[in-house]
Amino acid sequence: MLVSHHVQLTDAWTIVRLSLHVLGACVWVGGQLVLAGLVVTVRGISHDAPGKVAKAFAKFSWPAYWLLIVTGVWNFYAVGPSNATTSWNVVFGVKMLCVVVSGLGAFLHTKATSPKARGVYAGVGMIGTIAALVLGVALAG
Ligand code: HEM
Repeated sequence: MLVSHHVQLTDAWTIVRLSLHVLGACVWVGGQLVLAGLVVTVRGISHDAPGKVAKAFAKFSWPAYWLLIVTGVWNFYAVGPSNATTSWNVVFGVKMLCVVVSGLGAFLHTKATSPKARGVYAGVGMIGTIAALVLGVALAG
């Protein structure tokens, strides 16, 4: 933690930038977690209900993912990579890897044809998703 003399409010553009990034994370991360928890209930409604719900969910989750990418690039340039320490830049790089795993896992999960592959892609993607969130918090400090 950086030592500062006073705890103070941040400026308006930082509030907009981080609020949009966090809002994207709420939908992308929170949506996936809650949906995973609802799968058993949804399957109980009908055999094809999980597929329908997943398709409807994708209309919200993918825009949230692209919002995270756009506001993430904004974050990166706002923080200024040249002002950051080496460890910050390393964590940023690892986070970018996690973001790719998160998106690719979710995408391959939707394209998988066997239940086993669907589960593996969901699991690997979810690890990338949670890791991206935690590393994001580390970057914001
Ligand atoms: C799965 C996708 C992502 C998730 C879940 C995620 C999550 C987060 C979270 C929770 C924070 C902390 C916000 C705060 O405490 O105020 C954060 C910060 C940050 N994220 Fe992301 N993020 C994602 C994608 C990206 C991408 C694609 C980039 C860059 C292209 C990025 C760059 C950053 C940067 C630079 C910060 C620090 C911002 C600052 O200190 O002002 N993120 N992220």
